[in-house]
Amino acid sequence: MSYQKARKDYILHELWEKDCPSDPVELLDKWLHEAHSDSEDANAMMLSTVNEDHEPSNRIVLLRALNSDGIVFYTNYESDKGRQMGSNPNVALNFFWSWIERQVRIQGRVERLSDAESDTYFASRPRESQIGAWASAQSSSIGSRQELDDAVRALEIKYNGVAIPRPKFWGGYLVRVRYFEFWQGRANRLHDRIAYTKNEMGWSIDRLSP
Ligand SMILES: Cc1cc2nc3c(=O)[nH]c(=O)nc-3n(C[C@H](O)[C@H](O)[C@H](O)COP(=O)(O)O)c2cc1C
Repeated sequence: MSYQKARKDYILHELWEKDCPSDPVELLDKWLHEAHSDSEDANAMMLSTVNEDHEPSNRIVLLRALNSDGIVFYTNYESDKGRQMGSNPNVALNFFWSWIERQVRIQGRVERLSDAESDTYFASRPRESQIGAWASAQSSSIGSRQELDDAVRALEIKYNGVAIPRPKFWGGYLVRVRYFEFWQGRANRLHDRIAYTKNEMGWSIDRLSP
């Protein structure tokens, strides 16, 4: 494959100010629904964090709730990303839905959900995922795959026939968003970009040059 020659023109949709609600959460919700109709991965988003030396890193996590407070995802609080967000709560998120030629860029600050909220979500997960959360010291080195599989087996025996509690090291984060950018691919690289920036009154809306 020639990366230089690979070219795609974006022609499927347009984004006009008249179609932008005053609340960006409404637009994100609409785009998520449209993306979801063609893919099970529509709620997968890139989460970027920085460590204490200001080095950025990113990975995919799943959006699990969207409301007027912000965006919720779940993870291991002691993972690399968990530690990074503990020392610096500023994060960026990114959705890219190639099949509808859209990107959404988001910036905000994270805070942990309450124990009660994380408990409720953890209880709703499949049992295998609950065991998985306990078995994985996420981001740390392990000797072998066998070690992980053995840990799962031991946990299955330990919790056989009883409810599995949420590990204290696992739970949710809420991203309180201060900036959204909705990007709609257009022909000839003249894309539509509509940015929402939070202010005291609500949100200001700007069109950005592509
Ligand atoms: C489609 C997809 C969904 C994922 N969802 C999550 C998630 O919701 N939470 C999570 O902690 N990791 C999720 N992961 C794994 C992360 O990308 C990452 O490998 C893991 O969280 C460890 O990241 P860290 O070492 O930077 O903390 C997902 C990965 C993919 C590809």
